[in-house]
Amino acid sequence: HITKNTTFVIAGASGDLAKKLLFPALFTLFRRGYLPQPTYIVGYARSKIDHDTFIAQVTANIKDPGNDPDFVAQLDGYKSILSYQAGSYDDGTKYDELDKYLQSLEANFPGEERNRIFYLALPSAVFVEVAKNFREHVYSKSGSNRLVVEKPIGNDLDSAQQMVHDIAKFWMEDETFRIDHYLGKEIVKNILVLRWANGFTSGFWDSDRISNVQITLNESFGTEGRGGYFDSAGIIRDVIQNHLAQIFSILAMERPATLSPKNVIDEKGGYTDDDGVPKDSTTATYAASVLWVNNKRWEGVPFILKAGKALNESIVEIRIQFKDAPKGLYDDDISRSELIMRLQPGEAIFLKLNIKTPGFESGVVSTEMKLNYKETFPSAFIPAAYEVLVRDVLNGDHSTFVRDDELVAAWKIFTPILHWTDGKDGEPKPVPTKYKYGSRGPNGLDDFLAKYGYKA
Ligand code: BG6
Repeated sequence: HITKNTTFVIAGASGDLAKKLLFPALFTLFRRGYLPQPTYIVGYARSKIDHDTFIAQVTANIKDPGNDPDFVAQLDGYKSILSYQAGSYDDGTKYDELDKYLQSLEANFPGEERNRIFYLALPSAVFVEVAKNFREHVYSKSGSNRLVVEKPIGNDLDSAQQMVHDIAKFWMEDETFRIDHYLGKEIVKNILVLRWANGFTSGFWDSDRISNVQITLNESFGTEGRGGYFDSAGIIRDVIQNHLAQIFSILAMERPATLSPKNVIDEKGGYTDDDGVPKDSTTATYAASVLWVNNKRWEGVPFILKAGKALNESIVEIRIQFKDAPKGLYDDDISRSELIMRLQPGEAIFLKLNIKTPGFESGVVSTEMKLNYKETFPSAFIPAAYEVLVRDVLNGDHSTFVRDDELVAAWKIFTPILHWTDGKDGEPKPVPTKYKYGSRGPNGLDDFLAKYGYKA
């Protein structure tokens, strides 16, 4: 655990991710007292901007909640630990200057310990170079050093393996924290608890009871100024290969021996290693794919991973649909039971189940048992994913990060379909299907779901 004397170096400090997510998350941790004492946060990027411009940029997305009289003072306190160094990504002398600058800040630290956290909020093309330069020029000799790497790591299996290998020349796996921010989401963290802290869940978590599983990430907005990146990535690389594949592996994994990061990741990795069969998907902005897990527990259960931009609503959920109830007593078309975990908007867990129609009626009606976090835990602070993850970096907790072998396993699953949709592997060529902005997605989605056994 890092608890004191820390500098964060945020490379790519003027980028979208840093401004929208990282600096606001660091502020929340700061005001709630979760950052080490003392901490400095240093932005590093190429643009030559002055101190005030930098501060304005990285605090622009921090909103006053209006209910905390200390907010303004806290924000001023936060600003006082922020500063900016312009540099270059490939020139070692600039990193030497950065190192000198960090030393000047660290001169204020009590004792000898100097911890440094290097955060790559950068385009992935410069990951390796910057990681190397940080290691060679800015590494602390008297404390912990941690490297936080954003996505995308690679754009297919080979390039991902290459990048993992290139970074590993400079940074040990233990020092490396690969972000998948979905692992920091409350409901995702809750899956393990739901599965193994309840006596009954393991009794239905298999192909005897489950018909199909859907993991859905729908967004009602488009690429929002990130069109350049998105166009070269597409929806599979953007969210399915990483976020949805992570959720899939946590749903499908076996019980880990303990909750240590190693045991948990070993079990997850075991499942993503299995031969997945991604199907369908020819478009860059919407994709629905099906993975099968080749073991007894999941025999014949399709895991449908689907995601899209510019749809009618923003919703991220896991939907486990159970098999039909035994026939004979009630109408044959009664609804199937479902366990639904909603990640956003508004964390919630629902159990869709059939009950007797209330009153004189004796028919069956489908209803929901709801656990809505806002109502059940009205005063709980549910941290945003980046808040969770930065704290886990400080705690050295790898369980919410992507280990090298997991990353490779996830790329292994999706690389064949990516090469196909990229047009690399020749025939058959993908057939582009269009859908309207704000619609439910491409035609054919319902048939696709029905084909894999989902009953609406
Ligand atoms: C990012 C993708 O990783 O995840 C974005 O690059 C996507 O395109 C985002 O919008 C979704 O994350 P969240 O936390 O907003 O659901």
